[in-house]
Amino acid sequence: MSGPVLIFDSGVGGLSVARSLATSYPDIALCYACDNAWLPYGLRDDVTLAARILTVCQAAVRACQASMLVVACNTASTLALEGLRQALDIPVIGTVPAIKPAALASRTRHIGLLATRATVHRPYTQDLIERFAGDCLVTRVAADALVTEAEAWLGGRGVDETRLNAALAPLWQAAQAPCPLDTVVLGCTHFPLLKPVLARLAPKPLGWIDSGDAIARRVVDVAPPGTGPADGRCFTTADARHLRRAFNDFGFEPPQPLLLP
Ligand code: DGL
Repeated sequence: MSGPVLIFDSGVGGLSVARSLATSYPDIALCYACDNAWLPYGLRDDVTLAARILTVCQAAVRACQASMLVVACNTASTLALEGLRQALDIPVIGTVPAIKPAALASRTRHIGLLATRATVHRPYTQDLIERFAGDCLVTRVAADALVTEAEAWLGGRGVDETRLNAALAPLWQAAQAPCPLDTVVLGCTHFPLLKPVLARLAPKPLGWIDSGDAIARRVVDVAPPGTGPADGRCFTTADARHLRRAFNDFGFEPPQPLLLP
């Protein structure tokens, strides 16, 4: 591959995917782009969001001269993957909720799906559940508050645990039901960033499954990353100076504005 792999998300969630990729392939050249001007995606209407994702991804691919796009956002992938694949002439890899590994791991046959409101209700997600978790009870929890909490946390402010617990109450209840859930799909890339907090707040130990490692494997299946020059450029659609430190911790340069048409 000649150009870097571009990781795209609405915000900092894609950093959880960047971490999985960099852990598996330390020499991989990564760029990052996020549409923080439109964050959170999970509360936007589908038609305008699909058009916006296409515009931002096209601009970011151009800015980075990327050789592959990883849509590190479940909300964007379950809506816009096909459109992106048609519009771009590079491989596009999506991120969708890890329902299949969660169903394989669950002993109680009761799993939780923690995602944005949009992802929880998408036909794409329903299809994954029917195909891979047909014999499981699936408790779906729309937890958009966790997106803004993850953003705030990486921006240097502490998490609001009362707000997190309020959003997670249905999950905690299901974990203590007569047939309790034992495995939770982190169906939003922001959520693995909060995993230590989620595990501490949970009323009992649970399995937490995200898509990061599966995406890293998929990137290599599609095109093995070369050992080209390191990249690390980072583009945002709104001011992200408060995230400089977080981007730096994940190996990215200070954010620069992404110019949109
Ligand atoms: N990180 C995104 C995801 O995986 C969503 C965050 C948002 O709602 O903007 O779904």
